[in-house]
Amino acid sequence: MPGFELVGKEEQEAINEIFTKSNGVVFAHGFDALRDNIFRVRDLEKEVANKVGVAYAQAVSSGSTALKVALKALGVNKGDEVITQSFTFVATVEAILEIGATPVIVDIDKTLNMCPKSFKEAITEKTKVVIPVHMLGVSAQMDEIVSIARENNILILEDTAQGLGGKFAGKALGTIGDIGTYSFDGGKTVICGEGGMVVTNNKNMFVTARAYHDHGHEYSTTKGRGVEDAFCTGFNYRMSELQAAFGLAQFKKLDIILKLQKENQIKLKEAIKDIGFEFREIPDADGDIGDSIVFFLDTKEQAQKFVKKMGEVGLGTKNLPDAIKWHFAKHWQHMFKEYDFYNDGKNHWEKSEEILSRSIALPVMVKMSDEQIKSIAKKLLDIAKEV
Ligand SMILES: Cc1ncc(COP(=O)(O)O)c(C=O)c1O
Repeated sequence: MPGFELVGKEEQEAINEIFTKSNGVVFAHGFDALRDNIFRVRDLEKEVANKVGVAYAQAVSSGSTALKVALKALGVNKGDEVITQSFTFVATVEAILEIGATPVIVDIDKTLNMCPKSFKEAITEKTKVVIPVHMLGVSAQMDEIVSIARENNILILEDTAQGLGGKFAGKALGTIGDIGTYSFDGGKTVICGEGGMVVTNNKNMFVTARAYHDHGHEYSTTKGRGVEDAFCTGFNYRMSELQAAFGLAQFKKLDIILKLQKENQIKLKEAIKDIGFEFREIPDADGDIGDSIVFFLDTKEQAQKFVKKMGEVGLGTKNLPDAIKWHFAKHWQHMFKEYDFYNDGKNHWEKSEEILSRSIALPVMVKMSDEQIKSIAKKLLDIAKEV
């Protein structure tokens, strides 16, 4: 997800224009004449909505706050249960806790995303929402997840923080369920400092998201901001013009990022195919954004040995296993203790652990020469012979 690789003069100019064209106005609202009627947050919302093909997009301050705002828009309350998966960034579960709901964390399968069977088994009469997460730019099994959710009257929030530009059966990830979220933090496909987006085709959900992310503002078209009524209680999860300017410049590069990343992923996968790795299962290969290549070793011990040797020859990994503590529920004891759930000291995700402990994710970069790809493949082949 290397938006950071292409940061350059376009982003710098976009920030400068806030001064040269808009007199330094960085607030998303008001100051119409001073800013020369340029509204960058609104423009970014339009860009994202058009790109993924939805009616409504609400920019927010991060991918984490996008999840919280989306849960609010779905009407999640205290006492509701929200199902998500064991392999995700910690923020997915934090957002559920922030809303006062109860997270129910289910196993993944070899797609490294939500196991539909585990989802089905976890449903109770309190289940309000399911959050499939499209980890490392690969879609969850949305056909099965959607049909289980619809049969059981469960709303769907797609955490697409890592999947902007990805697809499942031709539909943009984030737009298949009821509401979706994206992240533009420093490690994502498109970056803007810190930022996120909530997308939906449901007008009521959008209106709630818009109000909640901004102290409840009703966004009246007739009254001024200072005198309009509150639609609901909210908070400040707004994006600023600085982030949006940067984000707009990056967004123009999305297509080229996705193209190069995918090409490099295909080349790298081809170059290592004779090693005989078992690869992650991909529900829709065409829709995979090409962010990484995940393969499985036979045992945890073998995987640990393999990663150690990768480090010795200068090869890095992506989250698996280098940042597993932040991405696998087993490690979130601090949270279980503080919020008193899964607080029995047991490992509730043995199936996930069995898969994750054998998984290695190779990062794919936009700027990867054929020589570099060859060299990575050669190093991996050498390690595979030893391990
Ligand atoms: C799956 C997932 N959800 C949510 C987030 C949170 O996004 P942000 O860092 O923009 O708050 C991330 C960020 O890494 C993520 O990977």
